[in-house]
Amino acid sequence: MDCYFNANTGASSPSSFSPSVTESPQAVSTPDTQRSALFDEEIAADPLDIGENASASFIMVVGGLGYIGSHTVLELLKADYNVLVIDDLSNSYESVLHRIKTLAAEHCAMLNKPMPALQFQQLDYRSPLMRSILASYSSYSVCSKPATAESARFPYSALQRTDSGIDMEPEDAPEQIIQRQSRITGVIHFAAYKSVEESIRMPLKYYMNNVCGMVEFLGLLEEFGVKNFVFSSSATVYGEGANSGAPLREELCVHHHEGFFDSDGFERQAIPGVMGLTSPYGRSKFMCESILADIARSDASWSITALRYFNPVGCHESGLLGEDPRQRPSNLIPVIATVLTGAKPVLDIFGTDWNTPDGTAVRDFIHVVDLAQGHIAALAASAAGRVKAPFRAYNLGTGRGHTVREVHKSLQITSGRTIPVREVGRRAGDVGFCVAEVRRAETELAWKAQKTLKDCAVDVWNFTKERCPVPDEMES
Ligand SMILES: NC(=O)c1ccc[n+]([C@@H]2O[C@H](COP(=O)([O-])OP(=O)(O)OC[C@H]3O[C@@H](n4cnc5c(N)ncnc54)[C@H](O)[C@@H]3O)[C@@H](O)[C@H]2O)c1
Repeated sequence: MDCYFNANTGASSPSSFSPSVTESPQAVSTPDTQRSALFDEEIAADPLDIGENASASFIMVVGGLGYIGSHTVLELLKADYNVLVIDDLSNSYESVLHRIKTLAAEHCAMLNKPMPALQFQQLDYRSPLMRSILASYSSYSVCSKPATAESARFPYSALQRTDSGIDMEPEDAPEQIIQRQSRITGVIHFAAYKSVEESIRMPLKYYMNNVCGMVEFLGLLEEFGVKNFVFSSSATVYGEGANSGAPLREELCVHHHEGFFDSDGFERQAIPGVMGLTSPYGRSKFMCESILADIARSDASWSITALRYFNPVGCHESGLLGEDPRQRPSNLIPVIATVLTGAKPVLDIFGTDWNTPDGTAVRDFIHVVDLAQGHIAALAASAAGRVKAPFRAYNLGTGRGHTVREVHKSLQITSGRTIPVREVGRRAGDVGFCVAEVRRAETELAWKAQKTLKDCAVDVWNFTKERCPVPDEMES
């Protein structure tokens, strides 16, 4: 008989089987709501919707309150998934959870449909408490072990050796086994450190969280039978391949031999490995992908999609969600936002001598809502068996490139403000050109980015303008 543990109380139903002590669910405290650096408003003491949901299935989103995670959690709720968020708030704020809930509730009310469950645990995903959480989202049943052909032929193989000699198991006691089934039907893994520059200074910090953390976590997921995994990868895995000046195909970075047809229709073999990874951050993503590919190769019951993001920008059109990190941002658009708010005097343009139309680096800027929807598409494709292999990588980009100057101009026009710039040398670890080839995601995930650079600029301005000084202070 199945039984369930209440994730919140740890209580089990009276007729239930009790798992071992190490797996008994424990209450994980959630600290008081914290306030974001960008939002001043008081946050209503709104209790989270942690209902019973005893039999409901959940998607676990690790790192779900960060920039991309928060937009993805919202899209999951809109698509009727129950969501369990794990985040240690090392680079995000609990207030984001309330904003996600507000937006999801508005969406559900508009469509007159029930709001899915949104649950949150503030926790480092490397914590031993993750075991308790996974246990509390599992159901257990006791059943008889089916007799194998082997045991029928050799009944005395059931003999058990004890200290006092050899005992035979009583014939009328069929062997009982405990079956465990998880209510977590998929995991999206965002929890990682992401600054290229910091990773060069502090590589161990990056390998410990991004690589060791993921490996430990995968072991736990395997133990609980959770084998549907979506990994946040990055275009950085293409290393120096990004400098070819051509859109990057997934086959430029593979972990095992892979056959494919090139753009002229010739059959080719992609060789495992990649050249010229430029930072420990990039290497951490490559290592994680390689590990995931090896796991999937050893056990085809895994379904692992590595989503290689190009340059996520923009934010939710409401202006309630956006990129609001605790740590100093290093990505282009959040840096522009800090110049607009006056927190930073000038935008540094790193490198004006790249082999690009205006000398500044070319990137494939993808709106974060498009990106978030790419995760829903990956889950749906996996559930429908459309993902071609137990490990499969997909580029999530637009297939179009824009220079840094074009982005700067777009935000100046949209905001009507002057954004001062300073031209400085190239940054360690940067490449000049990085644009996605997007056909694989379009055909296999049935996903395509919809939004433009202008949409990104409008939404970023919407998110930022409340915190900007009046125009006179900014105009030169
Ligand atoms: N933003 C980008 O430009 C970009 C590009 C390519 C890939 N990625 C990858 O996408 C993922 C999400 O990026 P993001 O921009 O949303 O970053 P983010 O820093 O905004 O979000 C990461 C979230 O994970 C949490 N976190 C980090 N370590 C954790 C841990 N050990 N346990 C629990 N929570 C932890 C942080 O508190 C944060 O909320 C990362 O893996 C990143 O490497 C990001």
